[in-house]
Amino acid sequence: MAELKEKGINPGLAVVIVGDDPASRVYVNNKKKACEEIGIYSEEYALPAETTQEQLLDLIKTLSDSKQINGILVQLPLPKHLDEKAVIAAIPPEKDVDAFHPVNVGKIMIGDFDFLPCTPAGVMELIAEAGIDPTGKECVVIGRSNIVGKPQAMLLLHKNATVTICHSKTVDLKSVCRRADILVAAVGKAKFVTADMIKPGAVVIDVGMNRDENGKLCGDVDFENVKEVAGAITPVPGGVGPMTIAMLMKNAVKAALL
Ligand code: GUN
Repeated sequence: MAELKEKGINPGLAVVIVGDDPASRVYVNNKKKACEEIGIYSEEYALPAETTQEQLLDLIKTLSDSKQINGILVQLPLPKHLDEKAVIAAIPPEKDVDAFHPVNVGKIMIGDFDFLPCTPAGVMELIAEAGIDPTGKECVVIGRSNIVGKPQAMLLLHKNATVTICHSKTVDLKSVCRRADILVAAVGKAKFVTADMIKPGAVVIDVGMNRDENGKLCGDVDFENVKEVAGAITPVPGGVGPMTIAMLMKNAVKAALL
């Protein structure tokens, strides 16, 4: 960061949160803390739940025009009365550090991108750091969200994996999951992935962030039982979550260099 600042490059990230969803509050606090730790200038805009579409779009316009702000992140989900798609489309693609704008999504599809979406990119880093090459491997992604499932499948495909995306309508989910050399769980249901769904030795990546019956943070994977079958597994907390933040920091620096 010091090197960048010597060159007059000062990344600035604006984080917008609307309403008081407790999980979103935790995510936003973690993002701000990471900025402080590595020396990225950040501004938080915490707007009330009643904020109108027009007020939110006005703020995005101001941030879009700001010289000090290179990256704009609007924490999702937004309250129901707001049009999420229109909000994302209002962020200039070159400041879209989440890579949610249709232009950035399209660029990812064709493999010619500026930003990668933070969570799927974090998963790819974990796989690479563990010395695992997805080439030719059976990769199964559970979940088809725009934030994780769909881009995750695309990034694995770029690394030459054979990719299957599963979702709530998938017939015989267990059999499909048991084919996976690499299984990515992005379902949003506590301990949804059980040991009988795992091929022995498989790599299991847990993107979930849920509360169990005792209110304790847990992932989509039944960690205690699955770890006995898997060859490698990521915990929750402390697995994918910190990687997501690290990738956001990378994108914030990249935005300042564009
Ligand atoms: N909500 C859940 N994950 C994310 C994320 O990566 N970015 C934003 N903006 N909102 C989210």
